[in-house]
Amino acid sequence: MLTKKATARAHPNIAFIKYWGNKNNDLRLPVNGSISMNLAGLETITTVMFGDEILEDRLMLNGEQQTVEQTRRVSRHLDHVRHLANVDLRALVISQNNFPTGTGIASSASAFAALTAAACSALDVHPDEAGLSALARLGSGSACRSVPGGYTEWYAGVDHQTSYAASIAPAGHWDLIDLVTIVNKEHKAVGSTDGHQLADTSPLQAARIADTPRRLDLCRAAILQKDFEPLAAIIEEDTLMMHSILMTSSPPLLYWLPATIRVMQAVQSWRAGGIPAAFTIDAGPNVHVISTTGWKDKLVGLLNELEGIQDILPTTVGGPAQIINEHLIP
Ligand code: PMV
Repeated sequence: MLTKKATARAHPNIAFIKYWGNKNNDLRLPVNGSISMNLAGLETITTVMFGDEILEDRLMLNGEQQTVEQTRRVSRHLDHVRHLANVDLRALVISQNNFPTGTGIASSASAFAALTAAACSALDVHPDEAGLSALARLGSGSACRSVPGGYTEWYAGVDHQTSYAASIAPAGHWDLIDLVTIVNKEHKAVGSTDGHQLADTSPLQAARIADTPRRLDLCRAAILQKDFEPLAAIIEEDTLMMHSILMTSSPPLLYWLPATIRVMQAVQSWRAGGIPAAFTIDAGPNVHVISTTGWKDKLVGLLNELEGIQDILPTTVGGPAQIINEHLIP
């Protein structure tokens, strides 16, 4: 019996400048660069166990055995690592999110970052951080940004090797928080893998792509200078631009609910009143309220007064994906 196993932890991330659309769908090469922050407090822990007694890839997610169909994406991702290691061993993957599934929080970034790190370590494949990030990208684009720590930038690149994320500032650089404000817990009707393929059907997408270097520069500078006002302005602008693409794609994707807009407008009025708060929204109805640690309690109180808020998950800035073999499951 031959068993090789490793366990890794990764955080999800929230994009400040968003990735929407691929120039190569198979390699998940994005049409534009993006910037995000890892979210400490939310995490995926994944153990990958390869063994010659394991006859097919199996996935246990939050304690539940997944179907062959649900396991396929993980299995295809493991093929990349098996190819690098030159082995043909099947695997048992046990993955746990500490945030409830079905909360509308995309878990694919932390899932594929943790899966990639654990699978590589188990099979003794040791790419550098950029290589690990590029590999994670093949599973889910945004997963490449959950490999390095803190505030990260994904360079769009021109091929597999040049499309990866790197840290632009460590987690301790600036004490931003993300109050993940849940207004709807349902799974989205159109997932991002399919959504990216609709991006080009919007006549606005070309303009958004052409303008991306400007938004990346403003966002990067605001992070490096820890300057909240310009950060707030550019992340809200970027969110509205991405949702303009979604709304004008065919078929159109309109994710906002009345409570989504209620939070957006409240955040803007609180900021006008002197509270550092800004919104950003991924491809779904939930709102990420960005602020600094000292404002957490005040903002949670204000958010809870709004109609239609189902849950608030407070997070801080997270570190990189890590091997944590002391947590080996089972
Ligand atoms: O990595 P994916 O395919 O789940 O796409 C992520 C897309 C957004 O969350 C909407 C934006 C982003 O950059 O994270």
